[in-house]
Amino acid sequence: MSIENKVVVITGASSGIGAATARLLASKGAKVVLGARREDRLQELVKEIGANAIYQVTDVADQQQVHDLLQLAVTTYGRIDVLYNNAGTMPQGNLSDREYGKWQMMLDVNVMGVLHGIGEALPIMKKQHDGLIITTDSVAGHVVYPASAVYNGTKYAVRAIMEGLRQEEKGNGIRSTIVSPGAVRTELVNTIGNTQIQASVSQLMDADEQKGLALDPEDIANAVLFAIDQPKHVAISEVLVRPAQQEV
Ligand SMILES: NC(=O)c1ccc[n+]([C@@H]2O[C@H](COP(=O)([O-])OP(=O)(O)OC[C@H]3O[C@@H](n4cnc5c(N)ncnc54)[C@H](OP(=O)(O)O)[C@@H]3O)[C@@H](O)[C@H]2O)c1
Repeated sequence: MSIENKVVVITGASSGIGAATARLLASKGAKVVLGARREDRLQELVKEIGANAIYQVTDVADQQQVHDLLQLAVTTYGRIDVLYNNAGTMPQGNLSDREYGKWQMMLDVNVMGVLHGIGEALPIMKKQHDGLIITTDSVAGHVVYPASAVYNGTKYAVRAIMEGLRQEEKGNGIRSTIVSPGAVRTELVNTIGNTQIQASVSQLMDADEQKGLALDPEDIANAVLFAIDQPKHVAISEVLVRPAQQEV
C-alpha cells in the first residue's frame, strides 16, 4: 500500500509517537486525521503540517467520540485506509497500592480505547473491503516487570485482541499490525505517577543518545510507515523495536 493519498486516522496524536507519525506520514503525502484530548497541541500540529491534516478533540475512552473522529475522516476524505490506535497511558505502581482509579483509567484508555477504534472502524473497512488497523503495543506486552502489572496487562490484552482481529477479518481485506516499542523519549513518563519510578525512567530517557537506552518517537514512526507501505498481499503482524542496549 503506497502511502501517497492514503487516509490515516491517528489517536494519541497530540505528542510523542502519534505526533511524529502524523508528521512523517503527511510528509509522504498521506491525509492524516488526528485525535487526542489536548486541542492546543492538535491545533499546533495541524497548522505545522498544513493542508493534509485535520483534527478532532477525542477521548478514546468514549465510544461516541471515537465514532465521531472516524466519521470526520469519512465525511472529509471519503474513506479510511489506516486506523492507528496509538493513544495510551502508563501509571506505574505495585498492586498493593490499590490504585483502582488509575487501573480503571488504564483499562479504559489502553484497552477500551483500542476496542472503540476497532469497533468503529470495522463497519467502514468491511464496506470498503480494505483497511489496515495498527495499534501501539509495547515490549511491556511481551514481558512483565514489577510495579507495572496493570500496564503490562493492558498491553498483553492488546496483543491478544489484535491477533483475534487478524484471524477474524483476514478474509475481508482487513489487515492488522501491532508496533511494540521499547523505551521511547516521550511525555509518557509524565503519566507514571510514582515519583521514584518516574525519576529512574526519566534518567534512562535523558541518557546520552549514543548509549542506546531510549528511542526517539521518529524511530517508531518509521516502523508504522514500514507496516503501511506494503503491497496488499503482505500483512506485517508485528514490528518490535528496541533501543539497541535495552535490557528487557
Ligand atoms: N514511550 C515509550 O517508552 C513507549 C513504549 C512502548 C509503548 N508506548 C506506547 O506508545 C503510545 C504513545 O505514547 P507516547 O510514548 O507517544 O507518549 P505520549 O507522548 O504521552 O503520547 C500519548 C498520547 O496519548 C494521548 N492520550 C492519552 N489518553 C488519551 C485519551 N483518553 N484519549 C485520547 N488520547 C489520549 C495523549 O494525548 P492527550 O493527553 O492530548 O489526550 C498523547 O497524544 C502509548 O500507547 C504507549 O503505551 C510508549
